[in-house]
Amino acid sequence: MLNDKKVLYSGMQATGTLTLGNYLGALKNWVNLSDEYECFYGVMDLHSLTVRQVPADFRKNARSLYALYVAAGLDPKKNCLYYQSHVSAHAELGWILDCFTYMGELNRMTQFKDKAAKHADNINAGLYTYPVLMAADILLYQADMVPVGVDQKQHLEICRDIAERFNNIYGEVFTIPEAYIPKAGAKIMSLQEPEKKMSKSDENVNATIRLLDDPDTIIRKFKRAVTDSGSEVRYSEDKPGVSNLMSIYGCVTGKTMEEIEREFDGKGYGDFKLAVGETVADELKPLQKRYEELMADKAFIDGCIKENDEKARYFANKTLRKVQKKVGLTEQIR
Ligand code: TRP
Repeated sequence: MLNDKKVLYSGMQATGTLTLGNYLGALKNWVNLSDEYECFYGVMDLHSLTVRQVPADFRKNARSLYALYVAAGLDPKKNCLYYQSHVSAHAELGWILDCFTYMGELNRMTQFKDKAAKHADNINAGLYTYPVLMAADILLYQADMVPVGVDQKQHLEICRDIAERFNNIYGEVFTIPEAYIPKAGAKIMSLQEPEKKMSKSDENVNATIRLLDDPDTIIRKFKRAVTDSGSEVRYSEDKPGVSNLMSIYGCVTGKTMEEIEREFDGKGYGDFKLAVGETVADELKPLQKRYEELMADKAFIDGCIKENDEKARYFANKTLRKVQKKVGLTEQIR
């Protein structure tokens, strides 16, 4: 890399609108990593094609995701924020790695099984090889560290297996990446079914807080959040609803669960839910304002995309050329 920093790679799919879970579980942590690591964050639009997209909405969502990365505090001068589809090396390495991945391995992927069950009418080959494209994303940048949610851990393991297999045959081509699962806020649950992860694609609008929800909507959704029997604000396994709200509140304010219990001692769920709603609404206000400004400044965002696409292409192509050479593909005559 350019300096001695370790490389960090992550990204989100360019579908749907981000939730508070995506923000507290990922985006907010990413912002704190950019001093320590050389960071690459992709808008993973190729992965989004595994589900049929409406082209105009898809384009808008991808751009909106890009602007949210920046609005959340990722400085596009310090972090390489780019579109996956603008760097053709992803698809090219993806193909090569397909040839180093066994169907037996892919058959074991739990996310494939879940998604196949959910989209029984469109179990396409892309959905099946999704983890291989993801491995290509990571390995192209020689990433040391990959911050992901627990649901992506298996994909990171297969990525490591593919990289090790390749290195065993051809020598040290790829850096073997480590998963980085952040301690705080790793998993924010649905406000309606706190046993389930807060998901972008939940059909119940009250289950998720969207990053672009206005303050009244946010407060209303928290007021409607499912709580548990009893009336105490206490963190406990048998109180998944309240515990989830406490995690959210803790993530935003930096308070520990004990501090939160003390703060709301003697108060009921109603007061607590209102406090969480107001705190979250306040936390998101500056991000939302910045987002609106960025979406109105086409030239700025276009400039960021162009510059970072080029940077990503430079590093990705370096790895791709090396891989092509190793496997014996003939060099192009330039
Ligand atoms: N599969 C990831 C998700 O849905 C998105 C993703 C694609 C990703 N490629 C990646 C994450 C590479 C980390 C690294 O959340």
